[in-house]
Amino acid sequence: MNTKKTIRDVDVTGKTVLVRVDFNVPIDKATGQALSDSRLRASLPTINYLKERGARIILCSHLGRPKGRDPSLALAHVARRLSELIGQEVKLAPCCTGPQVEALAMGLAPGEILLLENTRFHPEEEANDPNYAKALASLAQLFVNDAFAAAHRAHASTAGVAAYLPAVAGLLMEKEVYFLSQVLEPQRPFTLVLGGAKVSTKIGVIRRLLPKVDRLLIGGAMANTFLKAEGFSVGASMVEDESIDEASHIMEEARRRQIQLLLPADVVVAESIRPGARSATVSVRQIPQGWHIVDIGEITSQAYIRALAGSRTVFWNGPMGVAEIEAFAHGSRCIAQAIAHLPDAITVAGGGETEAVVESLSLTQQFSHVSTGGGAALEFLEGKELPGWTVLMDT
Ligand code: ADP
Ligand code: 3PG
Ligand code: MG
Repeated sequence: MNTKKTIRDVDVTGKTVLVRVDFNVPIDKATGQALSDSRLRASLPTINYLKERGARIILCSHLGRPKGRDPSLALAHVARRLSELIGQEVKLAPCCTGPQVEALAMGLAPGEILLLENTRFHPEEEANDPNYAKALASLAQLFVNDAFAAAHRAHASTAGVAAYLPAVAGLLMEKEVYFLSQVLEPQRPFTLVLGGAKVSTKIGVIRRLLPKVDRLLIGGAMANTFLKAEGFSVGASMVEDESIDEASHIMEEARRRQIQLLLPADVVVAESIRPGARSATVSVRQIPQGWHIVDIGEITSQAYIRALAGSRTVFWNGPMGVAEIEAFAHGSRCIAQAIAHLPDAITVAGGGETEAVVESLSLTQQFSHVSTGGGAALEFLEGKELPGWTVLMDT
C-alpha cells in the first residue's frame, strides 16, 4: 500500500511548496477559538522538514463546511496558534488564488510560511474545479498532501491540484497510511474495538476486517443496536433500528468464524443524557423504561480489558459511551488505558471523540498511532480508494 513518493523522495530545497494540511479543528462557537490543536501539531513534522530545507511553504486547509465566505470559519485563529507552535510568524492570505495571493507567495523567503484562507470559501474547491486547482498549483513548484483526514474528499486542493504539479505525500500522510495498513494486515491476535454513535458508518469496516479479527468488542450507542437485535429491551437508548438486521448478520458471521464477539453485560443508564443526570449501573437485562444507556459498566470494562490482553494488534474507533460528559466517560477511559498499556502490540485509534478520550488521559504517545482521520480512516479500512492518496506519484 505504501507505494507513494513522499517529501523524502524529492528535492525540496529552496522550492516553493503547496502543502495541503487538515486544520479542520473543532471550534468553540462562542469564542471562535480552536478547541483542539492536535491536527496542527500533527502537521509539524512535515512543516519543520520543509523549513529546515529552506522551502517556501504555502499551507492550505478547509475549516468546517461553509457555503461561501463565512467569517466564523476564517483561519486567523488557526494561523495564530500555528505561529505559537512553530515559533515563527505564519502569514495569512486573504483568499486562495488571485494576484494578491500570488504576490504574497512570490514574496516568501526560504523557510517562511504562508497560510491560505479557508479553501472552502470558494465553491470551486468542493466542485474540484480544474481552473481553481490550476490557479492553486500556479503558486508553487511542488504539491505535498499531508491532509490524511481529508484524503477521502476529491476536492481541488486535495486531489485536483495534483494534475498540475508533481505531488508527494507528507510525513503525516505517510504515517497514517503505514499504520492503517498494519491494521489491514494485522499480527494476530487482532482485537477490534468499536463504539460511538452509529453502526451504519462502521458496517463496511466490520465486514472487511471480520475475516482477520480474533475478538470484536462493541460498546457505545452501537452496542444498543446489537443488544436490541439480541432481544434485550434498551429503554430510551439511542438505537439504529434500520441496522438491527445487519447487527444480527454480523453476530451470526462472528459465530460462524468463531470470533469472540463481546457485548456489554452491564451498562450505566441515565435518566437523560445530560451532565448531572440521575444514573445507575445495571445489568443489560434490567434497563429501566425511559432511561438511556450512556456507558459500559464495570463488569463489562473488566471483561473487555481481559479480552484485550495478549492482543498483537488493536484498532479502536468510537467511545464506549457519551464520553464528552465526564460522568459517562469512565468505560472509554478504562479501554484507552488498557489499550495504551498492552505490551508488544500495534495499537491504533481513530475518530474525533476517540482521539479526545486518548488525549484527555495524555496517552497519545502510548499508542502506536492515533489517527487524525475519522471518515478517512474508516474509508481506508473499508478498502475504499482515497482520492487524496491515489493522485500522488508512485515510487
Ligand atoms: P468518533 O468521533 O471517535 O469517530 P463517533 O463519532 O462514531 O466516534 O461517535 C461518538 C459519539 O457517540 C459521541 O458523540 C458520543 O456521545 C456518542 N455515543 C457513544 N455512546 C453513546 C450512547 N450510549 N448513547 C448516545 N450517544 C453515544
Ligand atoms: C474531517 O474532519 O473528517 C475532515 O476534515 C473532512 O471534513 P469534511 O467531512 O467536512 O469533508
Ligand atoms: Mg465523531
